[in-house]
Amino acid sequence: MKALLVIALTLGLIPAPVEYRPAEGTSSVQKIVVRKHSLRFKWAVKGLEDFSRKEAYRITLKPRKAVIEAASAEGVFRARKTIEQLQALGPVPRGVIFDYPRFRHRGLMIDESRSFKGVEFLKKQMDAMALLKLNVLHLHLDDAAGWRIESPSYPLLTEKTAWRIGDYYYKWEQAHYKFVDKDDPEAYGGYYTPDELRDLVAYAAERYINIIPEIEMPGHSMEVTLTYPETACMMEDGTRFKGAWDFCPGSEATFELLETVLAEVMDIFPSQYIHIGGDEASMATWHKCVNCRRRMEEEGFTDVRQLQGYLIRRIEAFVRSHGREVIGWDEILETGVPQSAVIQSWRGISGGIAANAAGHKVVMSPNSHVYFDYYQDLIRKEPAACGDLTSLRHVYSYEPVAPGMDESLVLGVQGNLWCEWVPTCEHAEYMLWPRGFAIAEIGWSPMGTKDPEGFRARAMAMQDLWRAMGYNTFDLRTETNLARSGYRTFEAYEAAGLKDPAGTE
Ligand code: ACM
Ligand code: ZN
Repeated sequence: MKALLVIALTLGLIPAPVEYRPAEGTSSVQKIVVRKHSLRFKWAVKGLEDFSRKEAYRITLKPRKAVIEAASAEGVFRARKTIEQLQALGPVPRGVIFDYPRFRHRGLMIDESRSFKGVEFLKKQMDAMALLKLNVLHLHLDDAAGWRIESPSYPLLTEKTAWRIGDYYYKWEQAHYKFVDKDDPEAYGGYYTPDELRDLVAYAAERYINIIPEIEMPGHSMEVTLTYPETACMMEDGTRFKGAWDFCPGSEATFELLETVLAEVMDIFPSQYIHIGGDEASMATWHKCVNCRRRMEEEGFTDVRQLQGYLIRRIEAFVRSHGREVIGWDEILETGVPQSAVIQSWRGISGGIAANAAGHKVVMSPNSHVYFDYYQDLIRKEPAACGDLTSLRHVYSYEPVAPGMDESLVLGVQGNLWCEWVPTCEHAEYMLWPRGFAIAEIGWSPMGTKDPEGFRARAMAMQDLWRAMGYNTFDLRTETNLARSGYRTFEAYEAAGLKDPAGTE
């Protein structure tokens, strides 16, 4: 009963709107009229932050038409997507919707290195994102398992490492990390040309989605040190650590490559934010390397970890000199980085909290809640995945602003789809939806309005809509009671006095 009431107030929409004032009857929405915003609308959005005012809208649903008021074309676009959802969900009720977002960054990350998806897949996901008012697509464009963006200056990156043996990461490991020619009968992979990426950027812009490109450094860079060994560490006898996990921060060739590639990336992507990775550097070769040792001496460093800070600060300054800002995974906070860098929390929330306390802007994407490569239901019924059980309910329970954090520095929230266990586009959709619905709601809807059962009922209807549109979603109808109730282990479920963890109803 409660779920039905909440659905009535939310109109079944995801994300739930800030306010809906119902009126009797339905609207046939024969036309949509965009009206210059009224004084009343101006007053309503007056206290909002700039980003929120820009996306705010009011829709008056009259018997035959919908009237949109908004302060910008972006607000009009968000309103149109609300109307589109209402029309797809069933008879459109009458009344007035007033709506605006809580956060400016409502994102999804897709790992293109571990499995290459291609333009059509990304466009399809952006269509879905737009319907949910998600506005950031973060593309992880390179990693050890493959480089996915053609570089005119460093063409070997895609020529040599865009194709490999093994669709799953573990199969590539079993094949001894073998890269192959694209004509090899077992070749698995692909890459984007600059023109394809420009086309994607334009497609995104039409949907008010910003694509944030990520070029990973200094770790996860085996494919580059293999292809351009001058970016790898070097022993005294001149031997290079070809295929090392990390770039050599002592080698000038490393900076030449990274800065050249980043300049190419910034030429393609207008994003204010450029992601430079920064996670999980092994630093294994740095203490053995003549160039790293020389760099340490010159800089007065006593610990190889300081080399990570050196590389990140130098690249951050380069990106900033182009009028852009860097985002890095939370490790970059630990080795010194200017406050202008945005920190993306992934190892739980602690990195985000520390960065926020130090005055950094943060994006919250903790693996404790929003890692979409993790299982979404019991292992025995799901395709192979990794991590802890991260059900829709668990994702939905996430609150990006932890107690004590300064909300004004929290740019928003993002679900991350790493693809070591996700070799196909169909599988990627399965992992993204419906959990992406929860990111949309957490990122947009006001704090304190959460209702897990009501949200689940809306997600069920939305999932059916997604399926009708041709998306391969996880099916909430098959969800076990344990996952549905948001518990992560049998022990916790049973400790709460609950029974029948596997039953679906
Ligand atoms: C990450 O998940 N290694 C950022
Ligand atoms: Zn080195």
